[in-house]
Amino acid sequence: MSSTAPDLAAKPAPAAPPGFFQERVLSVHHWTDRLFSFTCTRDPSFRFGAGQFAMIGLMVDGKPLVRAYSMVSPPWEEHLEFLSIKVQHGPLTSRLQHIQPGDHVLIGRKATGTLVTDNLRPGGVLWFFATGTGLAPFMSLIRDPETYDRFDRIVLVHTVRQEAELAYRELISAELPAHELLGELAAEKLTYVPSVTREPFVRGKRITTMIEDGSLTGDLGLPPLSPERDRAMLCGSEAMNADVRALLEARGFVEGSNNDPGTYVVEKAFVTK
Ligand code: A2P
Repeated sequence: MSSTAPDLAAKPAPAAPPGFFQERVLSVHHWTDRLFSFTCTRDPSFRFGAGQFAMIGLMVDGKPLVRAYSMVSPPWEEHLEFLSIKVQHGPLTSRLQHIQPGDHVLIGRKATGTLVTDNLRPGGVLWFFATGTGLAPFMSLIRDPETYDRFDRIVLVHTVRQEAELAYRELISAELPAHELLGELAAEKLTYVPSVTREPFVRGKRITTMIEDGSLTGDLGLPPLSPERDRAMLCGSEAMNADVRALLEARGFVEGSNNDPGTYVVEKAFVTK
């Protein structure tokens, strides 16, 4: 299901509109008929922090058609990677899902976002709560050594409808613990908790249910969620973000920002069309 360009120099780069780079697609992977990811070249001047997003898209009728996408790839990686849903009539994703190696995509020059470790008080257990493509920023964060420096333990909870939507499952559970530089840190500190809600799977609960019934922490032998020792980052649909936010705030968690680090931060998984 993956494709890589035989001759990457085949198509000349079109001129980039102001504020964007034109980058060349290197590979495309279709996870399901609703989900795909791609890698592209990265301009050496494009800087971002793990967890941030940029405006990504295509030239359509001579104009940039872009949406916010979190970088899946870590900041140290030479190329960029993105994860996207496919919506049949979505203005951007109906087109973007057909990109091929050698095609060009627009990458906004400025990265931003709230899911950065600077916005959280350091220490304790850092929980990543993701649904669907909300996994993307956490794929970058689990490959940034700074995440491991700042927190004692990291738990990545990813909930999807179907097992096939557990994107990057192999990378998280097998490749990362064996990675030359990050392997030891990940093996020691990172726990992956995948959950599938609409098919039989070893775990089938929503994140909200796991928090409410205590199984989230209980199954890992950890004490109940507390702002004293836990930190959280949320990235999912608006409904999921609102529901998890309410559960955290009821437990005394406080939203963090750049100039006032807190105990949780939230960002919506952007592209829904
Ligand atoms: P469910 O299958 O019970 O709806 P979606 O593709 O709709 O964004 O859903 C992705 C995952 O997020 C699914 O496992 C879904 O569970 C779950 N989910 C959807 N809404 C919420 C919510 N408000 N709180 C927690 N999890 C949710």
